[in-house]
Amino acid sequence: MFMNFRRVRKCKFLQIVFTCFILSALMLNWEQVDHHVVSHVKSYSYRYLINSYEFINHSFSISHEKATSIGNFPYLMDHKDTCRGQDVLLLLFIKTSPVHFLRRQVIRSTWGNQTYINRELGVIVKVVFVMGIQPNGGRAIQKQLQTEDQIHRDLVQQAFLDTFHNLTLKLLLQFRWAHANCAHARFVMSADDDVFVHVPNLVRELQVLSNQGVADLWIGHVHRGAPPNRRKDSKYYMPFQIYQWSSYPDYTAGAGYVVSADVAAKIYQATLSLNASFHIDDVFMGICAITVGVSPQQHVYFSGEGKAPYHPCIFEKMITSHGHVDDVRYLWKVATAPEVNGISSGFFGQLYCTAVKIKLLCFPYFLNSYSCKAAFS
Ligand SMILES: *[C@@H]1O[C@H](CO)[C@@H](O)[C@H](O)[C@H]1NC(C)=O
Ligand SMILES: *[C@@H]1O[C@H](CO)[C@@H](O)[C@H](O)[C@H]1NC(C)=O
Ligand SMILES: *[C@@H]1O[C@H](CO)[C@@H](O)[C@H](O)[C@H]1NC(C)=O
Ligand SMILES: *[C@@H]1O[C@H](CO)[C@@H](O)[C@H](O)[C@H]1NC(C)=O
Repeated sequence: MFMNFRRVRKCKFLQIVFTCFILSALMLNWEQVDHHVVSHVKSYSYRYLINSYEFINHSFSISHEKATSIGNFPYLMDHKDTCRGQDVLLLLFIKTSPVHFLRRQVIRSTWGNQTYINRELGVIVKVVFVMGIQPNGGRAIQKQLQTEDQIHRDLVQQAFLDTFHNLTLKLLLQFRWAHANCAHARFVMSADDDVFVHVPNLVRELQVLSNQGVADLWIGHVHRGAPPNRRKDSKYYMPFQIYQWSSYPDYTAGAGYVVSADVAAKIYQATLSLNASFHIDDVFMGICAITVGVSPQQHVYFSGEGKAPYHPCIFEKMITSHGHVDDVRYLWKVATAPEVNGISSGFFGQLYCTAVKIKLLCFPYFLNSYSCKAAFS
């Protein structure tokens, strides 16, 4: 008994010495340790303990002339009259690449079908595809785009190269275009072309919010206290010279988010005095927002990266799901089937759907879509 006790004490002692050693090694190399966990700890501590992003004003502010000269490319295709004279509930930008002809076609015949939305839901949603120029694309692609645009009249193209590192230019395009041509739309959404948007569910929520006269709305899948990525091989790599701090301001995943008209106007204003040379578009939106006092709100049915599980109880509530290319028609069909509506109504319906969603969302599967909280809302 005595021996045991001594041994336990010795173990504890060694453990403490070891922990101290590791901690001091971490402390000494704090800046050099480029480790996922460490950067998240640093970033979270910054976000939740200090939570001051005043440096952003200072570090990103530039003159009006310089700010407006960024992204000031001529339009190659445009439809300034898209919203004119109409009571637009939602202006829906879809960020697409020039060569994604098929994706656009599928979207037009499913969740982005404006005729369907108008007929079935009784509201006006304007779908606009935004793009730059295909790198090494040549004239053939541009011709094909013009043909497509003559039929559908829904492409807006600006003369910058459509690349990952130019996504912030696409963000500027959306907010500036919305300001110039559709400022009266009550909500503005931005979505990727591989996202599935359950437009009927979204429209129902927006109608309620609109009737309540909501303002200051920015919803999506929120990233809070995200650390800048310092690994040079990552496409999200952020050099220290451009962003020195350990945490980004809060922002929503660029895959899909919605803002109210007043927020869209404020973000537009912010783009007139900030340096948009920052290439990660959704983080840049967070930077714009914090300088005008807007913060994002988490909506549990906006997915971050993953696909939502396929189940009527999910379909009844889902807003966005990410990573859909080949299954959009199928998903549109099953997610808008009449039997989905009201599946969770009544005591037993609610019990059933809560159980199903706990099973689908609350266990650590490979899926990364809605959080467990969604099971209870
Ligand atoms: C940034 O500046 C604007 C106006 O100059 C001010 O309203 C805002 O509060 C500032 N934001 C921060 C985070 O200091
Ligand atoms: C859009 O929906 C309407 C009405 O439901 C339908 O007639 C039309 O064929 C659809 N458009 C496409 C491109 O599928
Ligand atoms: C962004 O577009 C501009 C204008 O077309 C081009 O000069 C630049 O190389 C592009 N940047 C990147 C990183 O692709
Ligand atoms: C904007 O930011 C870029 C990248 O950090 C920098 O090179 C450029 O000088 C800045 N522009 C202005 C006008 O400060």
